Amino acid sequence: SGGRQFFVGGNFKMNGNTKSLSAIAERLSSSDLDDTVEVVVAPPASYLALLSAKLSAKENVNVSAQNVHEAEKGAFTGEISCSMAQDCGARYAILGHSERRHVFGESNEQIGTKTKSVLAAGLVVIACIGEKAEDRKSGNTMNVCVEQLTAFKENINDWSKVVIAYEPVWAIGTGEVATPEIAQETHSQIRTWLSENVGSEVAASTRIIYGGSVNGKNCKDLSLQPDIDGFLVGGASLKPEFVDIINCTR
Ligand code: G3P
Repeated sequence: SGGRQFFVGGNFKMNGNTKSLSAIAERLSSSDLDDTVEVVVAPPASYLALLSAKLSAKENVNVSAQNVHEAEKGAFTGEISCSMAQDCGARYAILGHSERRHVFGESNEQIGTKTKSVLAAGLVVIACIGEKAEDRKSGNTMNVCVEQLTAFKENINDWSKVVIAYEPVWAIGTGEVATPEIAQETHSQIRTWLSENVGSEVAASTRIIYGGSVNGKNCKDLSLQPDIDGFLVGGASLKPEFVDIINCTR
């Protein structure tokens, strides 16, 4: 993966409680994790402080928000700001996840505004993009990805604080993982887009991670592809096999 540090994120989505998430933190703490891998877990906001406290001794494991609001504070019932996430220990924020886009109706414009706030707060953005099945069938995969990438790009001033997560919507939570060939093809097109639209150094150094039905069995083959620099794992990040995914490049 071109000298880029392998990155494995666990997106817990709206799952877990004090007991089960503490058990996950304890498993990560007591496991022999490849310390060359950057590991990030994204619990529900209500458990950010718990997880960051439980993982504080594990230097390569950090905590991420699953979403944030772009404003600093105010009358936004139900939302949390970047600084609140940070205050609870988050160093990263996932933005533009497929579920935020397609279940909660977030637009590219809104995601762009959030990107600006996240970077201004000093958090790392895990910038999610990905096409729906119908887009892939109609040959529009890169059109959709480029539109999403452009909205991020317009709000990014420091690409060293960005990880791109390519998550084809048809592969999320379906058990239908992209083949290594299909994932590699799109990752490589994303890197080419970066090279042509941002610059060759950014293209060479930015991690592009894959998400969508990654598990302990399929991770190794995906990790061998030259443009796959890690994973954003949903369901399997709640299970013991998350450790195998973290260690799959060993
Ligand atoms: O953000 C990760 C996610 O959307 C993938 O979910 O359950 O298919 O691994 P899953």
